Amino acid sequence: KIKACIFDLDGVIVDTAVYHYQAWKRLANQLGFDFTEHDNEQLKGVSRVRSLEIILAIGGVTKAEAEREELATLKNTWYVDMIGKMTPDEILPGAKEFLIACRDAGLKTALGSASKNSMMILDKVGITDLFDAIVDGNKVSAAKPDPEVFIKGAAELGVEPSECVVFEDAIAGVEAGKNGGMKVVGIGQPEVLTKADIVLTGLDKMTLDLLDTL
Ligand code: BG6
Ligand code: MG
Repeated sequence: KIKACIFDLDGVIVDTAVYHYQAWKRLANQLGFDFTEHDNEQLKGVSRVRSLEIILAIGGVTKAEAEREELATLKNTWYVDMIGKMTPDEILPGAKEFLIACRDAGLKTALGSASKNSMMILDKVGITDLFDAIVDGNKVSAAKPDPEVFIKGAAELGVEPSECVVFEDAIAGVEAGKNGGMKVVGIGQPEVLTKADIVLTGLDKMTLDLLDTL
């Protein structure tokens, strides 16, 4: 019996991928190479530090650890400037409605995100209080596909992993949920999220009835 839903943030609740992309592209351009929207797909669900490593590899650029840290911080200041201007109308279709439906039905809700900026985003779009637990990049040490973020979410909610459904748009995130012994609803394309139990185009397609069929 499903007792809780755990949601990824970027790409499931809000579409922040575009802001990540703009900030990384600005950094790449400053370093003298381009970074395309196609390249950006590789960064979904990936940590800030790992994202930078991937971008430097794309540009064929090598940087020492100290400078990598500076570059990641610079990108983040640009990103934070953009998400600081987010408004509630940037919540993806159906996300807020499904969170409310879960809580009305007595299900627990948690956030399970790799982002260290999740609190600011939730605050800006005004849905912080719809989560019973928030586990993000500040609380975990192992990145998705390691299940740590979702296992911690289940523990904070006081439920078993087998009683949780995870909602994820990234391949690594879907794998993290499955590695944690949870049901996973992929948000995106079935051809991409092959390990998910079901794949939907968005939370606007999700219903409470679907939960118990997983
Ligand atoms: C994930 C995003 O949710 O968070 C990644 O999909 C991002 O693109 C990662 O790199 C870390 O985010 P932040 O906000 O801590 O840089
Ligand atoms: Mg995501």
